[in-house]
Amino acid sequence: MRIVVIGGAGTIGKAVVAALSDRHEVVVAGRRSGTLHVDIQSPDSVRDMYREVGTFDALVCAAGEAYFGPFDTMSERDLTLGIESKLLGQIRLVLRGRSLISEGGSFTLMSGYVLNDPLPEATGFAVANGGVEGFVRAAALTLPRGIRINAVSPGLAADSYEQFGRFNPGRLPVPMRTIGSAFVRSVEGSRTGEIIRAW
Ligand SMILES: NC(=O)c1ccc[n+]([C@@H]2O[C@H](COP(=O)([O-])OP(=O)(O)OC[C@H]3O[C@@H](n4cnc5c(N)ncnc54)[C@H](OP(=O)(O)O)[C@@H]3O)[C@@H](O)[C@H]2O)c1
Repeated sequence: MRIVVIGGAGTIGKAVVAALSDRHEVVVAGRRSGTLHVDIQSPDSVRDMYREVGTFDALVCAAGEAYFGPFDTMSERDLTLGIESKLLGQIRLVLRGRSLISEGGSFTLMSGYVLNDPLPEATGFAVANGGVEGFVRAAALTLPRGIRINAVSPGLAADSYEQFGRFNPGRLPVPMRTIGSAFVRSVEGSRTGEIIRAW
C-alpha cells in the first residue's frame, strides 16, 4: 500500500512509520518535517497536499495540537487550538480526502487516553479527542467505496514519559511498538468505526 503518515516524524508518528515501512510505501508529511509538507489547520494546504500526493491507499494522522497547561487560567481562546488543529484539522483530511483515496482505503485518526483518563492540564486534548472519536463513529456509517475509518487512542508513550510522566501519577508508559501495532491493526485489518486503544 501507499500510505501517507501525517506527523510521521513525531514521537507517535515515528512508531507508526517503523511499524509499516517494511511492507508498504510510506510517505511522511508534516509542516516542516517529512517529504510532503502540509499544515492540517489550513484548508488550502490540505488541498495542495492531496494534489501533490497522487494515488494513496491509506492515510494516518499522527499529528494534531491542542492546549496543554493550567486549567484555572484556560480561556476559550486556548481551546481553539485543539478545535482547529487536532479536531477540525483531522476531520478536514477525511472530508477532502474521501473522494481521492483508493477504493477500500482507510483513514486512521489520532485520539488519546486523556479523553478517558482526564488530566486537568490536558482538557484541550480531551475536548478534541471526544470530537475525533464521535466523528470516526459517525463517518464510518456512510463512507462510500468500502473506505474504512478508525481512531487510535494511545496511552502515554514511552518516548514521552520523561516529559509528561509527572502529570500522570501511576500511569505506566506504553512501549512504542505497542502504539505502532495499534495503527497496523487499523490500516491492515478490516475494522471500521472503532477506537483502537493502545494502553
Ligand atoms: N506522545 C504521547 O504520549 C501521546 C499519547 C496520546 C496521544 N498523543 C497524540 O498524538 C499526537 C502527536 O503527539 P506526539 O507526542 O507524537 O507529538 P510530536 O512529537 O510533537 O509530533 C507531532 C508531529 O505532527 C506534526 N504536526 C504538528 N502539527 C501539524 C500540523 N498542523 N500539520 C501537519 N503536521 C503537524 C509535526 O511535524 P511538523 O512540526 O513538521 O509539522 C510532528 O511530526 C497528538 O495529537 C497527541 O495528543 C500523544
